[in-house]
Amino acid sequence: MNDMKLNPTKSIQVGLLGIGTVGSGVFNVLQRNHEEILRRAGRGIEITMVADLDTARARAAVGEAVQVVSDARVVIANPQIDIVIELIGGYGIARQLVLEAIEAGKHVVTANKALLAVHGTEIFAAAHRKGVMVAFEAAVAGGIPIIKSLREGLTANRIEWIAGIINGTTNFILSEMRDKGLDFAAVLKEAQRLGYAESDPTFDIEGVDAAHKVTLMSAIAFGVPVQFDKAYVEGITQLGAQDIRYAEQLGYRIKLLGITKKTAEGIELRVHPSLVPAKRLIANVEGAMNAVMVHGDAVGTTLYYGKGAGSEPTASAVIADLVDIARLHAAEAAQRVPYLAFQPDAMSDTPVLAMGEIVTSYYLRLNVADEAGVLARVCGILAEADISIDAMLQREADEVGGEGSTQTDLIILTHDCREARMNEALAEMQALPTVLAPIVRIRKEELA
Ligand code: HSE
Repeated sequence: MNDMKLNPTKSIQVGLLGIGTVGSGVFNVLQRNHEEILRRAGRGIEITMVADLDTARARAAVGEAVQVVSDARVVIANPQIDIVIELIGGYGIARQLVLEAIEAGKHVVTANKALLAVHGTEIFAAAHRKGVMVAFEAAVAGGIPIIKSLREGLTANRIEWIAGIINGTTNFILSEMRDKGLDFAAVLKEAQRLGYAESDPTFDIEGVDAAHKVTLMSAIAFGVPVQFDKAYVEGITQLGAQDIRYAEQLGYRIKLLGITKKTAEGIELRVHPSLVPAKRLIANVEGAMNAVMVHGDAVGTTLYYGKGAGSEPTASAVIADLVDIARLHAAEAAQRVPYLAFQPDAMSDTPVLAMGEIVTSYYLRLNVADEAGVLARVCGILAEADISIDAMLQREADEVGGEGSTQTDLIILTHDCREARMNEALAEMQALPTVLAPIVRIRKEELA
């Protein structure tokens, strides 16, 4: 290798806090691709200390050449360490350690979406004061370089919207529900048995993990503070196999999307199941894979696809951050890419809209008495609310409720309307005596 142009200074020294699946991946990829990374970064990047409560596990992962300690603060206090990688997770001790590392003048790399989505403002402000970098490519969509794309590759654009499949667990469950015609609960159980879903899958299936990630993307896309508390979060636990089937018959797939949009009124920030036209590439993202669509005014619509989790895909993102820091740490803080893509003194206070203010289209399933006038009354309520119908589907009663059934499913797709107006129309339709069960409402995104 021609190393003449490389920076002759010593390797940049990295301390790793928490060495589970991702930490081991970082260690292994850094070793395996050492030369390629050196040629790119211009100087070596070396993990010299690891802190983990399970020191035996840490020792097994990194061998004898690396110092292993049980106390993360020993790493943070070491003046030789330039960068601290936080892979502990959660908002508790991880927040404390990240703030302490910043205070000690260390650059920080983290995969912790929960921490940044909730405490990002505090953490970025602290880092700005100390002139250190906080990098978090691995926090959103694992191996997909979506943070870099948004912050740098698309920097010429006014971003108009982002829609992403950013949780692999739920995408795996939805794919299985569609393939096998099963309900949510049955698929979740199987996914847990196979190790695709965690034993406590709450953050994934309730949409919280996706909301953390879309909160970060929203901040970077629109130059607003991270505001997880303003995100609307709805998971996939209420989805039934019949809605996936009906959606399919109408040319749609159901995906858990993280959506953020800039409108004239404000910013939409929401996670919920959405119908997506089956002909869109993103509708065909199956299993645990992730994909993010970004629409910019200059570039148009772009799509990013890849593994959103796993040891080496996530390590790929962590190491990209290490290389960025190795290249830039000697630069003036003002020369670096801002944490949230916009200069800290140029952030906007555009409000995040309440859910009633968002505009989208809808899939409605009404279980109704199969008798004269029912459809007319439902359509009348929608017409009164100025909600336009895009498509309709009604199955024969026998097919829905069995031989001789007197009730059926009425499926309605609407054009765009404001959510508050839809809520009022839904309440009126629900009050009809011929509507026999709670109406199912799933939002729909055309992503055109
Ligand atoms: N649990 C996440 C997922 C990966 O299922 O995609 C980490 O955010």
